[in-house]
Amino acid sequence: MAIRKILTENEDLLHKKSKPVTEFNERLWQLLDDMAETLKQADGVGLAAPQVGVLRRVFIMDLGDGVVEVINPEFVEKKGRQEDVEGCLSCPGEYGITVRPAYVKIKAQDRHGNEFFLDGEELKARCICHEYDHLDGILFKKHVIRMLDDQSE
Ligand code: NI
Repeated sequence: MAIRKILTENEDLLHKKSKPVTEFNERLWQLLDDMAETLKQADGVGLAAPQVGVLRRVFIMDLGDGVVEVINPEFVEKKGRQEDVEGCLSCPGEYGITVRPAYVKIKAQDRHGNEFFLDGEELKARCICHEYDHLDGILFKKHVIRMLDDQSE
């Protein structure tokens, strides 16, 4: 495993749309393993492949109960509305209040190409939406209704 560099918002790749994964091979597994290592080191809750410079529809999350690998996700349900604080490893030191669905359900594939469903509320719903957006080149600021003051001081 290796730590990969996390791109910041001034880099073009972060604003591009990612392509679906078609081959569930060693190369994908290496990417997933490196992303898990990178997320852990950055002490984040989610990381999408474009953030490490790979334009494929892959993201991972770790909300404290282990890493979940999500490949080629599609939303099957979105319900309600929530507002809470959000940030992004690609926008260090910046936080804002975003509006997201209160509940989401997605269909995705695991590292072997097997289909599964994943759903969640609160932080999990926000994280799924945030990471999914990265696959379409969208950063959380698009959903911010109010940026918070710089908390890095
Ligand atoms: Ni992010």
